[in-house]
Amino acid sequence: MDSADQLSAPSVTTKAPAKPAAPAAVVETSSDPPVNKMRRRIVWATVAGSLITFFLMFVRFFLPRSILEPSPLFRIGSPNDYALGVDTKWQQQYRIWVTRTSDRLFVIYAVCTHLGCTPDWKASENKFKCPCHGSGYDSEGVNFEGPAPRPMDRAKVELDAEGQIVVDIGKLYKWPKGERNEFDDDGSFIRV
Ligand code: FES
Repeated sequence: MDSADQLSAPSVTTKAPAKPAAPAAVVETSSDPPVNKMRRRIVWATVAGSLITFFLMFVRFFLPRSILEPSPLFRIGSPNDYALGVDTKWQQQYRIWVTRTSDRLFVIYAVCTHLGCTPDWKASENKFKCPCHGSGYDSEGVNFEGPAPRPMDRAKVELDAEGQIVVDIGKLYKWPKGERNEFDDDGSFIRV
């Protein structure tokens, strides 16, 4: 090439297109301290526990109580299992005493008719004595001293097909002062 061509021809330089910049590497920054994770778990456990408790209370509220309460009906053996006098063997379990006389067997509901305490049977004195305010009852549960207003109630009793005594403390016979005595009503005693 001569010098004239060198002056007239522009010099061409070819550049390769620039490559797009690579995205910056994503740096993991969620470095939650372990103490926060633990706190979060405790909060969730507390919330879940509270919700479960409220749910159970809700369900319990609508359940009929009769399912959970003990039955007022129970068997206490045969009349031949009881000697004359007062038998206290069912006091703890059923809150009753069984009294047998020369011709009857009946069940006294062991609740003082003054304010509802449980009297004690004093065998040596042949009487029930209430520890709360001193009411006294004879061996048939009839009050004779202290503030009790009437004899202790008696539970319904009957014999089943096998000759076992069935007691129903859901049905009580009473003798309120000045009113009719229910202690001779059918169901208030078994003839022996
Ligand atoms: S409760 Fe028995 S005397 Fe008062």
